[in-house]
This record gives sequence, structure tokens and C-alpha cells, in this order.
Amino acid sequence: MATSSMKSIPMAVPSFSMCHKLELLKEGKSKGQEDHEGLSYEFQEMLNSLPKERGWRTRYLYLFQGFWCQAKEIQAIMSFQKHFQCLPNDVVLATIPKSGTTWLKALTFTILNRHRFDPVSSGTNLHPLLTSNPHDLVPFFEYKLYANGDVPDLSGLASPRTFATHVPFGSLKDSIEKPGVKVVYLCRNPFDTFISSWHYINNIKSESVSPVLLDEAFDLYCRGVIGFGPFWEHMLGYWRESLKRPEKVLFLKYEDLKEDIETNLKKLSSFLGLPFTEEEERKGVVKAIADLCSFENLKKLEVNKSNKSIKNFENRFLFRKGEVSDWVNYLSPSQVERLSSLVDDKFGGSGLTFGLS
Ligand code: A3P
Repeated sequence: MATSSMKSIPMAVPSFSMCHKLELLKEGKSKGQEDHEGLSYEFQEMLNSLPKERGWRTRYLYLFQGFWCQAKEIQAIMSFQKHFQCLPNDVVLATIPKSGTTWLKALTFTILNRHRFDPVSSGTNLHPLLTSNPHDLVPFFEYKLYANGDVPDLSGLASPRTFATHVPFGSLKDSIEKPGVKVVYLCRNPFDTFISSWHYINNIKSESVSPVLLDEAFDLYCRGVIGFGPFWEHMLGYWRESLKRPEKVLFLKYEDLKEDIETNLKKLSSFLGLPFTEEEERKGVVKAIADLCSFENLKKLEVNKSNKSIKNFENRFLFRKGEVSDWVNYLSPSQVERLSSLVDDKFGGSGLTFGLS
């Protein structure tokens, strides 16, 4: 059992800075226990065969199927890949964490259910978004349905079933290969995604884990070591698929949604096969959805101030600033230079660009 043994740590972390090794030694026991709680011996043996790096909020991130993720996430993803059976109308919302997943879930749920729950009279009809966090309305494969290696019964779900995931396209594609299954990817510029991740992780991490300093987190990020990263591979995987099969994968950008939500809502709605009618547009349905799902509206709701929707994570941390370019307040000129040249290098020639200036 290699998980909490102090003896195994130096061998397990050969490339870590001395400073972080000391942190691990100090925290090792409780962090290790949290990471691996409830995992079988065989599973832990499998984990031990994977490359690993310092984690952001758990002790390690493991390189699994070419992307970095936590032990519990691997357990869930393996169960998902083995058991999930897609249906022709399924909708899968995909993001790398902190790209606006919560927003995309709110928008998609509201679009798909607008004939049951009228967004125009959402106040009087008690729209589900007023009392439920978007993560309760659109479940994650890896944090909810297949968490702990569970195999959920999905037979009672209304059509179109709507799910979410952070899994990169390469590890998702076999599970969604049926005509009619649609994927919506929301991409956010890597600078803001990094800053949002850094804040979030430090807010939700358990007390037994020391804070990840900005410089250290930035270095990990630029080396690709971030949950479900490298971020460039995550974004490019969905980007290329959206170019190849636009009817299957819709690629949206957080910044575009911030700039013009109504145009993007129409795009999303048409992609999902439920375009807004002229009458709906006249009645103000598009604007009502935008307002209902806006950062300002969701942030102030009681359910998003006090509850927990994803195990152990307080909803309030899901709504921080909701702005574009907050990174300018945090990154040094040399960090901006490093990330800019990484972005140029990785995304150059792909056609995927980020309006950063
Ligand atoms: P910031 O940390 O920059 O504020 P995710 O939902 O993938 O976890 O992403 C969280 C980011 O999206 C946070 O960014 C959060 O504030 C922002 N966000 C959450 N709800 C939003 C909304 N309705 N509109 C715009 N941004 C939103």
C-alpha cells in the first residue's frame, strides 16, 4: 500500500521542488488518505503505474489516457467508459474546468426545458434555476453519475438527456458515437481559465492541503499539469472535431457569450434542434433566458450562496467575478510573455484564436 506511507514519498516525487517535497511530507498522511479513500487495492496498484505530478487540490494528479486527473476522477471515468450507453438525442456539455461550465449548464437546461418552464415568467412559475444550482440540473458523468465507480440507472431521465463532462474528446468519443448525440464545448481563454482555476482551487481545497502559490500553479499550468489538461490539447481536441463534424460538436467561446449572449443563445438553440420561433423572439424568450442565467442573477440566489451541489464544494465559489481579462490583475509581464508564447506555439495554425488585447 503506497498511499500514505512516508517512506514511499521521495521515490514518488522525483521531479518536485524541495520545498514542495517538504510540504508533502508535512501533509502526506491526511492528503493521501483523502485522495485514495475508498479505492481498491488493485486500483491503487494501477494508479502507482501511472506518471504523477503534484496536484492542485489533492496530493497527486495522474497522467491517465494522456490527460492529468485525480485518482477519484479516474475511477469514475473508467466506470463511465465501461457502462455508459448513449441514446440518439443525448446532449453532452464539455469544458475544461473554470471555462463557464455552470453558465453553459444553466443556458442549455433553460433552452431545452423552455416549454415546461417558461423563462419569461420564471419568477412567478418558480423556474428550477431559482431553487437549484445548474450542477444539480445537468449532472457530471465523473462527479455525480459515475462517482466512486458507481453505475447509475439512467432509465428514468427525460429526453433529451443532458450530461456534462470535463473529459477530453479523445476519451469521450467512443461513448458518444451514435448519430444524433450532440456535444457542446465551451472554451475560455487560457489566461482567465488559469486565474479562475487558481482562485477556485484555493477556495475549495481541504484545510489539510497547503495553498498552491500563484507562481507554482502557473508553472504547472504551463507544463500542462492541470486537471484534464494540458489545456491546449483539451481545447484543440474539441476544436478539431467541431471543424470536422459541426453537426456533432458545437464550439462556443466564453468571451463571445459575454459579448453577445443573444446571438450565441440562438446558435446553441438551433444546434440543439430547437431554434427559437419568431413568436418566441417577439415575446422576449431569448432575452429572458439570458437574464435568468446571467452571472448577476445566479450569484444572488440563495441556493447559490449557501448550498453544496458537487460533493464538498460550496456553490458560492462557482460565482466569483464572471469577467473577461481579470488575468491582467494577477500575471506578471514575464508570465504573460511565457503564456502568450505557449498559446502561439500550441494554437498557431489551428484557426483557434483568443482575442486577448
Ligand atoms: P471567474 O473565476 O473568472 O469569476 P465553471 O463554471 O466552469 O466552474 O467556471 C467558473 C467561472 O465562470 C468563474 O469565473 C465564474 O465566476 C464564471 N461564471 C459562473 N457563472 C457564470 C455566469 N452565469 N455567467 C458568466 N460567468 C459565470
